[in-house]
Amino acid sequence: MSKKVYIETYGCQMNVNDTEVIFSILADAGYARTGEMGEADVILANTCSIRDNAEQRIWGRIEVFATERRRRPGVVVGIVGCMAERLKDSLLDSRKVDLVAGPDAYRSLPALLAAITPDHPQINVLLSHEETYADIRPLRIDKNGVSAFISIMRGCNNVCSYCVVPYTRGAERSRDPRTIVREACDVFSRGYKEVTLLGQNVDSYFWKSPEGNVGFAQLLEQVARISPELRVRYSTSHPKDISDEVIETMGRYENICKCIHLPVQSGSDVMLEKMRRRYTRAWYLDRVRKIREVMPDCAITTDIIAGFCGETEQDHQDTLSIMREVGYDAAFMFAYSERPGTLAARHYPDDVPPEVKNRRLTEIIELQNVLSLESNRRDVGRTFRVLVEGPSKRSELELCGRTSSGKMCVFPAVAGVGVGDYVKVRVLDCSSATLRCEQV
Ligand code: SAH
Ligand code: SF4
Ligand code: F3S
Repeated sequence: MSKKVYIETYGCQMNVNDTEVIFSILADAGYARTGEMGEADVILANTCSIRDNAEQRIWGRIEVFATERRRRPGVVVGIVGCMAERLKDSLLDSRKVDLVAGPDAYRSLPALLAAITPDHPQINVLLSHEETYADIRPLRIDKNGVSAFISIMRGCNNVCSYCVVPYTRGAERSRDPRTIVREACDVFSRGYKEVTLLGQNVDSYFWKSPEGNVGFAQLLEQVARISPELRVRYSTSHPKDISDEVIETMGRYENICKCIHLPVQSGSDVMLEKMRRRYTRAWYLDRVRKIREVMPDCAITTDIIAGFCGETEQDHQDTLSIMREVGYDAAFMFAYSERPGTLAARHYPDDVPPEVKNRRLTEIIELQNVLSLESNRRDVGRTFRVLVEGPSKRSELELCGRTSSGKMCVFPAVAGVGVGDYVKVRVLDCSSATLRCEQV
């Protein structure tokens, strides 16, 4: 009987894709996947360190895993991913963990697992300059079989002062474009209709080769050419790097989704400088102008940090005003969380009091709710081509799917239309989160 592996995944989409890579590596070594912790021989958490609350949640899960291990001796508990990389062997101090493996160490998981004994936990947190898992065919764990994530690069060479990612994921490296296109073709041939190309800063994707260099715009084009029926999304753009060429390539292909995630972090030049984002508010707004010029209907979404070191009330007002000026369609919004070892932690005191941080975050969230609702209201009466993802959350009698701009549509199910089909819908009504539609 093969051993069973259960994995919980935290953090970003890249971690979701990494879990698929881990399942694939372990499947080749004879392990079977299970969705039930209670029947697993190996329990893994693929972890995130981006904010303290992400790590706290995982510590809570480690307690639960340790209880399971006490109940069923022989069960192995492992921490992999960014928290493993950040905390390294100190994770073993609690004796609740048998395995620690960083993001570049997944090929060694079968050997590490085989070497574990009750007195000998195993650890590999070496980072690599080359590893991209290019040859591994991820074992897809998505529920619907419509939308797949493909990592095109790993690591990050920026040093945004608040951010732990360069330390947990190491140096940036791009993956061979031929393996990316092959993987996209493979999922398309298996019925998938949408791929999302993933990287911390996709605009710095670069593959050097004698047959010609490939930048992100070329890669995007190669993937878009696989089929007009295959939608292409990507994340994340960096405002300092997003090029006219990428924006124009998006404009040329109907199947490249009209949606750009362009994290602004703050609307204040003083904060942007301190965050080491390497763009100004004016530069950012010029990129938005260019996007709108080429693609008037392109959605723009963002990430915002409230209460970074030294943030004044004026800096905060600048964030609210850039939000209004851009009119974001959606946003992920966070209170600043100091991460040990980062430039900000070493150089700037985390001096915005928690109540001020939270009040500012609330104001940002409330404003975004208004902007999201306004954005959705503009779509009422319009028709869109939607890719059906499955039944809606509320009812089996309804289907849901996204527009090219990434908005969630809900509409009554009709015979003959199912998951993975494209349908035309007209928007009848909306909330800040969804468009209510009918098929046309
Ligand atoms: N590579 C992407 C972001 C990756 S992390 C980019 O450059 O935009 C996702 C988001 O988490 C960031 O955009 C930022 O808004 C947020 N984040 C990162 N570090 C944080 C911290 N220390 N505290 C609060 N939010 C943080
Ligand atoms: Fe972090 Fe900046 Fe790299 Fe994004 S670009 S992962 S925020 S260091
Ligand atoms: Fe978290 Fe690591 Fe992703 S810190 S956000 S899982 S790159």
